[in-house]
Amino acid sequence: MTKSPNRALPPAKLRRGRLADLDALIALERDFFTADHVISRRGFRHFITSPKSTLIVADVDGKVAGCALVNYRQASQRARLYTISVGREFQRRGIARQLLAAAEQSARGRRCRFMRLEVRADDPGAIALYESSGYARFGRRSRYYDNRIDALRFEKPLSRLRNAT
Ligand SMILES: CC(C)(COP(=O)(O)OP(=O)(O)OC[C@H]1O[C@@H](n2cnc3c(N)ncnc32)[C@H](O)[C@@H]1OP(=O)(O)O)[C@@H](O)C(=O)NCCC(=O)NCCS
Repeated sequence: MTKSPNRALPPAKLRRGRLADLDALIALERDFFTADHVISRRGFRHFITSPKSTLIVADVDGKVAGCALVNYRQASQRARLYTISVGREFQRRGIARQLLAAAEQSARGRRCRFMRLEVRADDPGAIALYESSGYARFGRRSRYYDNRIDALRFEKPLSRLRNAT
């Protein structure tokens, strides 16, 4: 049995997010995140244009299939994966793994040595993604999300860029 009926879809192309993606990004975000942890239109607009952020979009046939957002702080060697999501119809095709690798590559390009992130303690799919991608758990934030769900904190050391630009 194949893992997903969507395997026949064209491969995802990764690119920087742009203002024309706003509606699609908001729809994606609202499908998964609520209240305190949803990124607003204003928030996305900021992240798309801010030099302290990299918003990567997975584009499948002209559609926004997923996104990953990395934030940077000045003088910090730690990048933060602020969000990653893949639309339901595009899941289990390796798109999150592709987005995560691109997010890490972007962080390496900013000379960051670590990527950090938080994930809901009740999200085994996302936890499996991070653990199988080299992330190790180092902490927990109590009742961080809605419904008092804890956040698990993960970190990955980033190897050096071979061909730094
Ligand atoms: C978590 C999420 C980003 C994964 O996206 P995806 O494109 O389906 O993930 P991939 O196909 O790249 O899967 C990579 C690995 O993640 C793990 N994984 C992903 N979804 C999973 C699921 N539903 N159950 C178990 N493991 C899962 C698997 O280890 C998988 O590797 P495999 O397919 O070789 O077994 C997606 O389900 C999503 O957007 N969820 C809602 C938003 C969210 O929870 N984001 C994380 C916030 S921290």
